[in-house]
Amino acid sequence: MRVLILYESRRGFTLTVAQAIRDQIRARGHQATTAPIRSVDAGTVAAADALIVGSWVAGKIVAGVGPAEGALEGIAGLPHLDGRPAAVFCTCAVAPFGTLDALASRLAARGAHVSVGEVFRKTRRKERRLTNVPAFVDEALREFDGSHERA
Ligand SMILES: Cc1cc2nc3c(=O)[nH]c(=O)nc-3n(C[C@H](O)[C@H](O)[C@H](O)COP(=O)(O)O)c2cc1C
Repeated sequence: MRVLILYESRRGFTLTVAQAIRDQIRARGHQATTAPIRSVDAGTVAAADALIVGSWVAGKIVAGVGPAEGALEGIAGLPHLDGRPAAVFCTCAVAPFGTLDALASRLAARGAHVSVGEVFRKTRRKERRLTNVPAFVDEALREFDGSHERA
């Protein structure tokens, strides 16, 4: 399976998570690449069997919290995804509120079938920041596989 991981990152943590996801997917014997969501080309998207889209959480902690504007712009600029399976993730300092749902519904509007989502908190303890990456990758690959069998 070829998985494309698209990210919107401002200070690098979302990129770090995207790269950790990529490495875990490769370790499970699949192809995986990362690309910034705002500048990915249509050919790269067309070549992917499944997508994972990640954004940092932007807002005022308790109000106006959602995906970074660049992520929404990037999703709006994607070619039609034609029922392609997808997963979403976000990174935040405090709480994501509806960020995953917002990412999922925008992707669904572009034709993706989104079934998995995960939050990665930028905790003070660095070694804890990526601990859910393997479980997220397992769940995403399971869903992507199932979706190919159903297709
Ligand atoms: C302008 C700005 C607004 C933010 N707003 C929120 C917020 O409302 N809630 C939250 O949990 N984290 C918020 N954060 C924290 C980021 O979502 C978090 O640090 C994220 O991991 C950054 O990802 P990056 O390193 O890829 O840019 C904000 C960060 C910035 C710079």
